[in-house]
Amino acid sequence: MAPTSPRLPAPPKDTPTFSPEKTSVVYVLGGPGAGKGTQCANLVRDYGFNHLSAGDLLRAEQDREGSEFGQMIKDYIKDGKIVPMEVTVQLLENAIQDINGGEGRFLIDGFPRKMDQALKFDESVCPSKFTLFFDCPEDVMTERLINRGKTSGRADDNEESIRKRFKTFVETSMPVVEHFEKQGKVVKVMATKSPDEVYEEVKKAMGQRGFQMKQ
Ligand code: C5P
Ligand code: MG
Repeated sequence: MAPTSPRLPAPPKDTPTFSPEKTSVVYVLGGPGAGKGTQCANLVRDYGFNHLSAGDLLRAEQDREGSEFGQMIKDYIKDGKIVPMEVTVQLLENAIQDINGGEGRFLIDGFPRKMDQALKFDESVCPSKFTLFFDCPEDVMTERLINRGKTSGRADDNEESIRKRFKTFVETSMPVVEHFEKQGKVVKVMATKSPDEVYEEVKKAMGQRGFQMKQ
């Protein structure tokens, strides 16, 4: 099947595309290497979530033949900078629409990484239920990323890009976490332990927010 075009730019609108009654959006944040993808896989298996990784969608768009954004995305990712939000928000909206017309549970992994993305998505795509935030010290994340870099083939799992990604995370993405925290919409999980131990905490957090495991 031919990949869907990004259909850009989206016209401004007043109401979100998806109603929060039918579409449950949980944002998943945490520094690079905090274990977001690993924990998302558990939640897909046990809670019937659909998993959308903003980084994966950007990498797919970067590689899509004929994409007008390919080179731009490549440069931003290599530099650990945040891709202009119109691109990422539209890729996410398309991906949600393509899954069951947007009905169901969605984990939006690695998003929103900048305040403008957060406001735009909540306003024009779908208001989020809450943010699952994986808290992890940089030395642990560095070790995981260097290990992942041996097999990931990612252009940004090297020491220089990792340093830039940490800087972007602290300066640009942490304000998003703080913004949602003020609204009582952040569940923080310590992400230093083993994946199984971290998942125990994640399950507690989901229960507290009214998400039950699927039968
Ligand atoms: O989440 P992941 O580590 O896969 O993201 C890789 C890169 O994709 C980020 O460092 C950033 O350049 C870009 N990105 C972005 N906006 C997002 C998510 C990822 O610009 N919301
Ligand atoms: Mg990831």
